[in-house]
Amino acid sequence: MSHALRAAGSAPPFLSAAHTPVSMLADRLRETGLVTLEGLATRTAVLRFAERIMEITPHQDSDPDGLTNIYDTRRHAQQTGYAGLTSSELAAHTERSGVPQPPRLMLLVCAHPAAQGGECLLTDGQAIHTDLAARQPEALELLSTPRSAFFGGGEGHSGRVFTPHADRVALRLRTDALARWSPFLTPHVPHLLAAIDRHQITLPLALGQGYLLDNTRWLHARHAFTGDRLCWRALGEPRAPLLPLPLGFSLAPATPRPPSPEAVS
Ligand SMILES: [Fe+2]
Repeated sequence: MSHALRAAGSAPPFLSAAHTPVSMLADRLRETGLVTLEGLATRTAVLRFAERIMEITPHQDSDPDGLTNIYDTRRHAQQTGYAGLTSSELAAHTERSGVPQPPRLMLLVCAHPAAQGGECLLTDGQAIHTDLAARQPEALELLSTPRSAFFGGGEGHSGRVFTPHADRVALRLRTDALARWSPFLTPHVPHLLAAIDRHQITLPLALGQGYLLDNTRWLHARHAFTGDRLCWRALGEPRAPLLPLPLGFSLAPATPRPPSPEAVS
């Protein structure tokens, strides 16, 4: 099976947040954009770890320490854009896709697992891009067209899903009621969603386990859940030990398009 058409991979092994050198975390982030972590069983441990690697960006829902409790508040069920604070399924998205510069890093740690469900779902933008280049090049072109998408309410952000930066590509996406598409792109959105599904990694988290991702490369999502699931989240910009951290992902080596049925016969 080619790289482009591979099945969804598995999550990388958990690294100890306390004992893994930051240089190794930086290497992993640069190479894959994702690090899975364990040993963060208290809010203080999460905060200390976050402060070592990022300048935490306060958020409208965060506490004074900068961390946000992600749980079912039972107050946000009917509010557009607040699915994260319910027990509902959460579709794959970029954190804060509607602001000009979404936070570069997102750290999410499990403080209390759900009774059922609630698994984290992660998708690598590089895998989506490579997949679409092979299967749906027209969709990829439209997803890379300036001003083909609008994310967020109010002022929001007019842009595109895949934005080239020199020899790299940055990803930005949401697909809920706060996403709008150009008429040309609309018929191709299902191809994007199918590619996301094909490459989604399921990551169940136990207490103290979490992930750190590059928000310009990976999409995150979540299964619906029951019970008192609680996660701590930090958003922010990478500190010196993680730099340089090039934006997005590099283009995978060119993959030839699969031959059409006509060409095969
Ligand atoms: Fe999110």
